[in-house]
Amino acid sequence: MDTNDISILAIESSCDETSASIILNGKVLNNIVATQSVHEKYGGVVPELASRAHQENIIPVVHEALESSGIRKNDLSAIAFTRGPGLMGALLVGVSFAKSMAYALKIPLIEINHMQAHVLAHFIEDPKPNFPFICLTVSGGHTQLVLVKDYLDMQVIGETRDDAVGEAFDKTAKLLGLPYPGGPLIDKYAQSGNPKAFEFPITRMPELDYSFSGIKTAVLYFLRDQLQQNPTFIEENLNDLCASIQHSLIEMLLIKLKVAVKQYGVKDVAIAGGVSANSGLRNALTDLATKRGWNIFIPKFEYCTDNAAMIAMAAHYKYLKGDFSSMDVTPLAKMKI
Ligand code: KG4
Ligand code: ZN
Repeated sequence: MDTNDISILAIESSCDETSASIILNGKVLNNIVATQSVHEKYGGVVPELASRAHQENIIPVVHEALESSGIRKNDLSAIAFTRGPGLMGALLVGVSFAKSMAYALKIPLIEINHMQAHVLAHFIEDPKPNFPFICLTVSGGHTQLVLVKDYLDMQVIGETRDDAVGEAFDKTAKLLGLPYPGGPLIDKYAQSGNPKAFEFPITRMPELDYSFSGIKTAVLYFLRDQLQQNPTFIEENLNDLCASIQHSLIEMLLIKLKVAVKQYGVKDVAIAGGVSANSGLRNALTDLATKRGWNIFIPKFEYCTDNAAMIAMAAHYKYLKGDFSSMDVTPLAKMKI
Protein backbone atom coordinates (compact mmCIF):
# COMPACT_ATOMS: atom_id res chain seq x y z
CA MET A 1 0.00 0.00 0.00
CA ASP A 2 1.14 3.49 -0.93
CA THR A 3 0.34 6.45 1.32
CA ASN A 4 -1.68 7.98 -1.55
CA ASP A 5 -3.84 4.86 -1.96
CA ILE A 6 -7.51 5.27 -1.17
CA SER A 7 -8.97 2.07 0.29
CA ILE A 8 -12.48 2.03 1.69
CA LEU A 9 -14.53 -0.62 3.46
CA ALA A 10 -18.23 -0.26 2.60
CA ILE A 11 -21.16 -1.83 4.44
CA GLU A 12 -24.75 -2.33 3.23
CA SER A 13 -27.51 -3.38 5.65
CA SER A 14 -30.66 -1.52 4.57
CA CYS A 15 -32.94 -4.49 3.94
CA ASP A 16 -32.32 -8.24 3.86
CA GLU A 17 -28.77 -8.46 2.51
CA THR A 18 -25.73 -8.00 4.76
CA SER A 19 -22.87 -7.02 2.50
CA ALA A 20 -19.31 -5.69 2.67
CA SER A 21 -16.95 -4.58 -0.08
CA ILE A 22 -13.46 -3.15 -0.39
CA ILE A 23 -12.62 -0.55 -3.02
CA LEU A 24 -9.01 0.43 -3.78
CA ASN A 25 -8.38 3.62 -5.79
CA GLY A 26 -11.85 3.39 -7.37
CA LYS A 27 -11.59 -0.30 -8.26
CA VAL A 28 -13.95 -2.68 -6.45
CA LEU A 29 -11.90 -5.63 -5.16
CA ASN A 30 -14.75 -7.79 -3.88
CA ASN A 31 -18.42 -7.88 -2.95
CA ILE A 32 -19.35 -10.25 -0.12
CA VAL A 33 -23.11 -10.73 0.26
CA ALA A 34 -24.99 -12.76 2.89
CA THR A 35 -28.61 -13.11 1.78
CA GLN A 36 -31.09 -13.74 4.58
CA SER A 37 -33.24 -16.77 3.81
CA VAL A 38 -35.13 -16.51 7.12
CA HIS A 39 -37.84 -14.34 5.47
CA GLU A 40 -38.90 -16.85 2.79
CA LYS A 41 -41.55 -18.58 4.82
CA TYR A 42 -43.16 -15.30 5.90
CA GLY A 43 -43.85 -14.04 2.37
CA GLY A 44 -41.89 -10.82 2.92
CA VAL A 45 -39.05 -9.26 4.91
CA VAL A 46 -39.72 -9.32 8.67
CA PRO A 47 -37.86 -6.23 10.01
CA GLU A 48 -37.03 -7.66 13.44
CA LEU A 49 -35.61 -10.86 11.94
CA ALA A 50 -33.64 -8.81 9.41
CA SER A 51 -31.94 -6.82 12.20
CA ARG A 52 -31.00 -9.98 14.08
CA ALA A 53 -29.61 -11.63 10.96
CA HIS A 54 -27.55 -8.50 10.19
CA GLN A 55 -26.08 -8.69 13.70
CA GLU A 56 -25.07 -12.29 13.13
CA ASN A 57 -23.70 -11.72 9.63
CA ILE A 58 -21.90 -8.41 9.84
CA ILE A 59 -18.64 -9.51 11.48
CA PRO A 60 -18.08 -12.60 9.26
CA VAL A 61 -18.99 -10.63 6.12
CA VAL A 62 -16.62 -7.72 6.92
CA HIS A 63 -13.90 -10.19 7.93
CA GLU A 64 -14.19 -12.03 4.62
CA ALA A 65 -14.11 -8.79 2.62
CA LEU A 66 -10.91 -7.69 4.39
CA GLU A 67 -9.28 -11.13 4.15
CA SER A 68 -9.94 -11.66 0.46
CA SER A 69 -8.82 -8.12 -0.46
CA GLY A 70 -5.44 -8.57 1.20
CA ILE A 71 -5.83 -5.10 2.74
CA ARG A 72 -5.21 -4.80 6.47
CA LYS A 73 -7.75 -2.86 8.46
CA ASN A 74 -5.04 -0.49 9.67
CA ASP A 75 -4.42 0.51 6.05
CA LEU A 76 -8.05 1.54 5.39
CA SER A 77 -8.65 5.21 4.46
CA ALA A 78 -12.35 5.33 5.45
CA ILE A 79 -15.43 3.31 6.39
CA ALA A 80 -18.65 3.80 4.42
CA PHE A 81 -22.17 2.65 5.24
CA THR A 82 -25.74 2.93 3.99
CA ARG A 83 -27.48 5.66 5.96
CA GLY A 84 -30.88 5.18 4.30
CA PRO A 85 -33.48 4.71 2.99
CA GLY A 86 -34.31 1.31 4.47
CA LEU A 87 -35.53 -0.54 7.52
CA MET A 88 -34.56 1.38 10.65
CA GLY A 89 -33.43 -1.64 12.70
CA ALA A 90 -31.48 -3.08 9.78
CA LEU A 91 -29.74 0.24 9.02
CA LEU A 92 -28.84 0.68 12.69
CA VAL A 93 -26.67 -2.45 12.64
CA GLY A 94 -24.56 -1.17 9.72
CA VAL A 95 -24.37 2.40 11.02
CA SER A 96 -23.30 1.35 14.53
CA PHE A 97 -20.72 -1.08 13.19
CA ALA A 98 -19.26 1.46 10.76
CA LYS A 99 -19.09 4.17 13.42
CA SER A 100 -17.34 1.92 15.93
CA MET A 101 -14.80 0.75 13.39
CA ALA A 102 -14.06 4.27 12.09
CA TYR A 103 -13.73 5.51 15.66
CA ALA A 104 -11.37 2.69 16.65
CA LEU A 105 -9.21 3.15 13.54
CA LYS A 106 -9.38 6.98 13.71
CA ILE A 107 -10.41 7.28 10.05
CA PRO A 108 -13.28 9.17 8.34
CA LEU A 109 -16.82 7.88 8.15
CA ILE A 110 -18.81 8.22 4.91
CA GLU A 111 -22.61 7.98 4.79
CA ILE A 112 -24.18 6.76 1.57
CA ASN A 113 -27.68 7.13 0.16
CA HIS A 114 -28.76 3.64 -0.96
CA MET A 115 -30.67 4.98 -3.99
CA GLN A 116 -27.70 7.01 -5.21
CA ALA A 117 -25.58 3.91 -4.79
CA HIS A 118 -27.94 1.82 -6.97
CA VAL A 119 -27.31 4.35 -9.77
CA LEU A 120 -23.54 4.36 -9.17
CA ALA A 121 -23.45 0.57 -9.58
CA HIS A 122 -23.01 1.50 -13.27
CA PHE A 123 -19.51 2.80 -12.55
CA ILE A 124 -18.16 -0.42 -11.04
CA GLU A 125 -17.31 -1.90 -14.45
CA ASP A 126 -17.16 -0.86 -18.11
CA PRO A 127 -19.03 0.24 -20.15
CA LYS A 128 -20.03 3.32 -18.16
CA PRO A 129 -22.79 5.77 -19.08
CA ASN A 130 -21.99 9.39 -19.96
CA PHE A 131 -23.53 12.31 -18.07
CA PRO A 132 -26.27 13.36 -18.19
CA PHE A 133 -28.18 10.08 -18.34
CA ILE A 134 -31.47 8.74 -17.05
CA CYS A 135 -31.56 5.81 -14.67
CA LEU A 136 -34.71 3.84 -13.95
CA THR A 137 -34.14 2.43 -10.47
CA VAL A 138 -36.50 -0.47 -9.81
CA SER A 139 -36.32 -2.42 -6.57
CA GLY A 140 -38.47 -3.97 -3.85
CA GLY A 141 -38.71 -0.64 -2.05
CA HIS A 142 -38.42 1.96 -4.81
CA THR A 143 -39.32 2.90 -8.35
CA GLN A 144 -37.62 6.08 -9.48
CA LEU A 145 -36.68 7.86 -12.66
CA VAL A 146 -33.45 9.69 -11.91
CA LEU A 147 -31.73 12.35 -14.01
CA VAL A 148 -28.03 11.78 -13.31
CA LYS A 149 -26.01 14.95 -13.94
CA ASP A 150 -22.82 13.85 -12.20
CA TYR A 151 -21.62 11.14 -9.79
CA LEU A 152 -23.18 12.84 -6.80
CA ASP A 153 -25.60 15.20 -8.53
CA MET A 154 -28.91 13.46 -9.19
CA GLN A 155 -32.53 14.56 -9.43
CA VAL A 156 -35.59 12.35 -9.04
CA ILE A 157 -37.87 13.29 -11.96
CA GLY A 158 -40.54 10.65 -11.37
CA GLU A 159 -41.41 8.03 -8.78
CA THR A 160 -44.11 5.71 -7.53
CA ARG A 161 -46.94 7.20 -5.51
CA ASP A 162 -47.64 3.89 -3.75
CA ASP A 163 -46.07 0.43 -4.17
CA ALA A 164 -42.66 -0.15 -5.75
CA VAL A 165 -42.61 -2.29 -8.89
CA GLY A 166 -40.68 -5.05 -7.06
CA GLU A 167 -43.44 -5.06 -4.47
CA ALA A 168 -46.00 -5.46 -7.27
CA PHE A 169 -44.02 -8.47 -8.57
CA ASP A 170 -43.75 -9.98 -5.09
CA LYS A 171 -47.36 -9.34 -4.06
CA THR A 172 -48.93 -10.66 -7.26
CA ALA A 173 -46.60 -13.68 -7.02
CA LYS A 174 -47.94 -14.28 -3.52
CA LEU A 175 -51.51 -14.24 -4.90
CA LEU A 176 -50.38 -16.96 -7.32
CA GLY A 177 -49.13 -19.00 -4.37
CA LEU A 178 -45.43 -18.43 -5.11
CA PRO A 179 -42.87 -17.97 -2.27
CA TYR A 180 -41.05 -14.72 -1.44
CA PRO A 181 -39.37 -13.07 -3.28
CA GLY A 182 -41.73 -13.85 -6.16
CA GLY A 183 -40.18 -11.49 -8.74
CA PRO A 184 -37.57 -13.96 -10.03
CA LEU A 185 -40.22 -16.73 -10.20
CA ILE A 186 -42.65 -14.60 -12.21
CA ASP A 187 -39.71 -13.92 -14.54
CA LYS A 188 -38.97 -17.66 -14.85
CA TYR A 189 -42.56 -18.81 -15.56
CA ALA A 190 -43.24 -15.82 -17.83
CA GLN A 191 -40.56 -17.09 -20.21
CA SER A 192 -42.86 -19.99 -21.23
CA GLY A 193 -46.10 -17.97 -21.16
CA ASN A 194 -48.15 -15.77 -23.47
CA PRO A 195 -48.01 -12.10 -22.37
CA LYS A 196 -51.28 -11.37 -24.20
CA ALA A 197 -53.24 -14.25 -22.60
CA PHE A 198 -54.83 -12.01 -19.95
CA GLU A 199 -55.16 -8.27 -19.77
CA PHE A 200 -54.29 -6.41 -16.59
CA PRO A 201 -54.70 -2.65 -16.25
CA ILE A 202 -52.02 -0.14 -17.16
CA THR A 203 -52.27 2.61 -14.55
CA ARG A 204 -51.50 6.06 -15.94
CA MET A 205 -50.31 8.66 -13.45
CA PRO A 206 -49.64 12.35 -14.10
CA GLU A 207 -46.25 13.45 -15.42
CA LEU A 208 -43.44 10.96 -14.77
CA ASP A 209 -44.95 9.27 -11.72
CA TYR A 210 -45.97 5.66 -11.30
CA SER A 211 -48.59 3.65 -9.41
CA PHE A 212 -48.35 -0.10 -8.95
CA SER A 213 -51.01 -0.82 -6.33
CA GLY A 214 -53.88 -1.15 -8.86
CA ILE A 215 -52.53 -4.22 -10.60
CA LYS A 216 -52.34 -6.14 -7.33
CA THR A 217 -56.07 -5.53 -6.68
CA ALA A 218 -56.93 -6.33 -10.30
CA VAL A 219 -55.09 -9.67 -10.10
CA LEU A 220 -56.72 -10.42 -6.73
CA TYR A 221 -60.29 -10.01 -8.08
CA PHE A 222 -59.51 -11.67 -11.39
CA LEU A 223 -58.14 -14.77 -9.63
CA ARG A 224 -61.05 -14.85 -7.16
CA ASP A 225 -63.57 -14.92 -10.03
CA GLN A 226 -61.66 -17.49 -12.07
CA LEU A 227 -61.05 -19.78 -9.08
CA GLN A 228 -64.80 -19.86 -8.33
CA GLN A 229 -65.34 -21.44 -11.75
CA ASN A 230 -62.18 -23.55 -11.84
CA PRO A 231 -60.28 -24.30 -8.62
CA THR A 232 -57.16 -25.32 -10.59
CA PHE A 233 -57.14 -22.15 -12.72
CA ILE A 234 -53.78 -20.94 -11.39
CA GLU A 235 -51.94 -24.25 -11.88
CA GLU A 236 -53.34 -24.60 -15.41
CA ASN A 237 -52.42 -21.04 -16.42
CA LEU A 238 -49.38 -20.18 -14.31
CA ASN A 239 -47.04 -19.37 -17.20
CA ASP A 240 -49.62 -17.20 -18.99
CA LEU A 241 -50.58 -15.43 -15.76
CA CYS A 242 -46.93 -14.62 -15.00
CA ALA A 243 -46.25 -13.48 -18.56
CA SER A 244 -49.35 -11.24 -18.59
CA ILE A 245 -48.65 -9.65 -15.20
CA GLN A 246 -45.01 -9.07 -16.13
CA HIS A 247 -46.04 -7.59 -19.46
CA SER A 248 -48.27 -4.97 -17.78
CA LEU A 249 -45.61 -4.05 -15.22
CA ILE A 250 -42.95 -3.62 -17.92
CA GLU A 251 -45.32 -1.58 -20.09
CA MET A 252 -45.95 0.81 -17.21
CA LEU A 253 -42.21 1.19 -16.55
CA LEU A 254 -41.32 1.82 -20.18
CA ILE A 255 -44.14 4.27 -21.01
CA LYS A 256 -42.73 6.80 -18.53
CA LEU A 257 -39.12 6.02 -19.38
CA LYS A 258 -39.82 6.91 -23.03
CA VAL A 259 -41.40 10.24 -22.01
CA ALA A 260 -38.50 11.04 -19.67
CA VAL A 261 -35.79 10.29 -22.24
CA LYS A 262 -37.54 12.51 -24.80
CA GLN A 263 -38.25 15.30 -22.33
CA TYR A 264 -34.65 15.52 -21.10
CA GLY A 265 -33.04 14.79 -24.47
CA VAL A 266 -30.58 12.19 -23.18
CA LYS A 267 -29.07 9.34 -25.21
CA ASP A 268 -27.74 7.17 -22.40
CA VAL A 269 -30.34 5.18 -20.47
CA ALA A 270 -29.64 2.91 -17.52
CA ILE A 271 -31.60 0.59 -15.26
CA ALA A 272 -30.67 -0.35 -11.72
CA GLY A 273 -32.08 -2.16 -8.67
CA GLY A 274 -33.28 -5.73 -8.11
CA VAL A 275 -35.99 -5.68 -10.79
CA SER A 276 -33.43 -4.78 -13.47
CA ALA A 277 -32.51 -8.47 -13.26
CA ASN A 278 -35.87 -9.21 -14.93
CA SER A 279 -35.27 -10.80 -18.34
CA GLY A 280 -38.51 -9.45 -19.82
CA LEU A 281 -37.53 -5.90 -18.86
CA ARG A 282 -34.01 -6.37 -20.22
CA ASN A 283 -35.33 -7.69 -23.55
CA ALA A 284 -37.98 -4.99 -23.90
CA LEU A 285 -35.42 -2.31 -23.10
CA THR A 286 -32.93 -3.73 -25.58
CA ASP A 287 -35.60 -3.66 -28.35
CA LEU A 288 -36.59 -0.12 -27.46
CA ALA A 289 -32.96 1.02 -27.48
CA THR A 290 -32.44 -0.39 -30.96
CA LYS A 291 -35.58 1.37 -32.26
CA ARG A 292 -34.81 4.70 -30.63
CA GLY A 293 -31.01 4.79 -30.86
CA TRP A 294 -30.46 4.81 -27.09
CA ASN A 295 -27.27 3.51 -25.46
CA ILE A 296 -28.47 1.26 -22.66
CA PHE A 297 -26.64 0.19 -19.54
CA ILE A 298 -27.66 -2.80 -17.46
CA PRO A 299 -25.46 -3.77 -14.52
CA LYS A 300 -24.23 -7.30 -13.89
CA PHE A 301 -26.76 -9.28 -11.84
CA GLU A 302 -24.73 -9.15 -8.61
CA TYR A 303 -24.71 -5.34 -8.81
CA CYS A 304 -28.47 -5.10 -9.53
CA THR A 305 -29.67 -6.49 -6.21
CA ASP A 306 -28.54 -5.00 -2.90
CA ASN A 307 -24.77 -5.12 -2.51
CA ALA A 308 -21.93 -3.23 -0.84
CA ALA A 309 -19.89 -2.78 -4.04
CA MET A 310 -22.27 0.00 -5.10
CA ILE A 311 -21.92 1.58 -1.65
CA ALA A 312 -18.13 1.40 -2.06
CA MET A 313 -18.32 3.04 -5.49
CA ALA A 314 -20.38 5.93 -4.10
CA ALA A 315 -18.00 6.20 -1.15
CA HIS A 316 -15.00 6.57 -3.47
CA TYR A 317 -16.54 9.67 -5.10
CA LYS A 318 -17.50 11.14 -1.73
CA TYR A 319 -13.98 10.52 -0.43
CA LEU A 320 -12.50 12.42 -3.38
CA LYS A 321 -14.72 15.39 -2.46
CA GLY A 322 -13.80 15.14 1.24
CA ASP A 323 -17.49 14.65 2.05
CA PHE A 324 -17.33 12.92 5.44
CA SER A 325 -19.93 12.33 8.18
CA SER A 326 -19.82 13.21 11.84
CA MET A 327 -19.73 10.52 14.51
CA ASP A 328 -23.26 11.61 15.56
CA VAL A 329 -24.80 10.45 12.29
CA THR A 330 -28.03 8.43 12.64
CA PRO A 331 -29.82 6.22 10.09
CA LEU A 332 -32.77 7.53 8.06
CA ALA A 333 -35.65 5.23 7.10
CA LYS A 334 -36.59 7.79 4.45
CA MET A 335 -33.81 9.67 2.67
CA LYS A 336 -33.99 11.82 -0.44
CA ILE A 337 -31.40 11.48 -3.20
O1 KG4 B 1 -32.74 -3.98 -5.05
P1 KG4 B 1 -33.26 -5.16 -4.32
O2 KG4 B 1 -32.37 -6.36 -4.17
O3 KG4 B 1 -33.71 -4.79 -2.88
C1 KG4 B 1 -34.36 -3.61 -2.55
O4 KG4 B 1 -33.67 -2.59 -2.31
O5 KG4 B 1 -35.61 -3.67 -2.57
O6 KG4 B 1 -34.61 -5.59 -5.06
C2 KG4 B 1 -35.38 -6.69 -4.64
C3 KG4 B 1 -36.58 -6.81 -5.55
C4 KG4 B 1 -37.61 -7.84 -5.08
O7 KG4 B 1 -38.89 -7.26 -5.15
C5 KG4 B 1 -37.46 -8.97 -6.09
O8 KG4 B 1 -38.64 -9.71 -6.31
C6 KG4 B 1 -37.09 -8.21 -7.33
O9 KG4 B 1 -36.19 -7.21 -6.87
N1 KG4 B 1 -36.45 -9.05 -8.36
C7 KG4 B 1 -37.04 -9.35 -9.54
C8 KG4 B 1 -36.14 -10.20 -10.23
N2 KG4 B 1 -35.04 -10.39 -9.45
C9 KG4 B 1 -35.25 -9.66 -8.29
N3 KG4 B 1 -38.21 -8.98 -10.05
C10 KG4 B 1 -38.53 -9.43 -11.27
N4 KG4 B 1 -37.73 -10.25 -11.99
C11 KG4 B 1 -36.54 -10.65 -11.52
N5 KG4 B 1 -35.75 -11.46 -12.24
ZN1 ZN C 1 -31.87 -1.69 -3.05
